[in-house]
Amino acid sequence: MTGPARTWLVTGSSAGLGRALVTELLARGETVAATARDPRTLADLRPPSAQALWTARLDVTDPEQIRQVVDDAARALGRIDVVISNAGYALVGAAEEASGEQVDRQLRTNLTGPIHLAQAVLPHLRAQGGGRIIQISSMAGQRGSPGTAVYCATKWGVEGFFESLAAEVKSFGIGVTIVEPGTVSTGFFGRSKELTAESPAYAGTPAAILRRRAQDGRLPCRGDLARMAAAVVDVATGPTVPLRLALGSDAYAAIRRGLTARLADLEEQREIAFSTDLNAGDGSTPSTPHRGPEGNDDAHHRPGARQSR
Ligand SMILES: NC(=O)c1ccc[n+]([C@@H]2O[C@H](COP(=O)([O-])OP(=O)(O)OC[C@H]3O[C@@H](n4cnc5c(N)ncnc54)[C@H](OP(=O)(O)O)[C@@H]3O)[C@@H](O)[C@H]2O)c1
Repeated sequence: MTGPARTWLVTGSSAGLGRALVTELLARGETVAATARDPRTLADLRPPSAQALWTARLDVTDPEQIRQVVDDAARALGRIDVVISNAGYALVGAAEEASGEQVDRQLRTNLTGPIHLAQAVLPHLRAQGGGRIIQISSMAGQRGSPGTAVYCATKWGVEGFFESLAAEVKSFGIGVTIVEPGTVSTGFFGRSKELTAESPAYAGTPAAILRRRAQDGRLPCRGDLARMAAAVVDVATGPTVPLRLALGSDAYAAIRRGLTARLADLEEQREIAFSTDLNAGDGSTPSTPHRGPEGNDDAHHRPGARQSR
């Protein structure tokens, strides 16, 4: 990348994708606030100069700590141009098997943590006239799958939150991108994964099969970690702000399959959907397209209306 160095804040920098992102950023001459639950894991990072790297302890399940670290980083570095909300892990096993504590921790880490981080960083980005937020989601944020229901719930949650946020903050010059990686070899299915307590009722079901494969480390990965990190940095520093960024051919294929199936399902339900309108069946046709709370023009989806492409 050419151009002026930016300042970045990254969560979950101890390992995996977060670590690869910090390494890539330092190699490109950027200034990084790298955060981790245990900052000792950051001691062997090699910044080109002492000023290029600022580190802090951050557990994203602690909203007070998030606010403090973000304020401290902004003060220490002068500004924060790009925030990469990366910290996360997967709870693997059947949904019914997950304890209340496991569900709660999964949500606090992967969903409410990123929401609190966005809330903490937005005043800084607005005050400085703009910036970028990169939220690491997953291909699991676009399609549910057995054995990762709670994880999928968190990633679908961030998809909804950050898609909405993107529209709220665009006018402040703040761009939001949701990154959807496919499988990549990190600690994700290794030391970081958490398993539910196995229940015999689920023996042989898809959730149990995934759980067993995760336990045995038999989940092949398609993605290249360094290439994924470089792609995220390229997009975060590029001239356009895509709302979503799929990484890996497995992510592309899974998301495409999921979206195609959802569209087919929606079209199958079209008659029922329109049959529940106030004026259903009276033969009247609204003179103006309905604009829902989402601001979407749905006139071309009316039964019998010509489909526009
Ligand atoms: N690997 C994949 O196949 C894959 C696919 C799609 C999406 N993703 C997403 O990519 C992101 C990074 O995961 P990864 O693959 O790099 O896995 P990883 O190697 O296990 O790294 C996860 C990172 O998140 C940190 N973390 C976990 N809980 C935290 C908390 N409460 N507060 C702060 N940091 C916390 C970990 O820190 P500690 O060292 O303290 O545990 C670690 O730095 C996650 O959001 C994950 O959902 C991964």
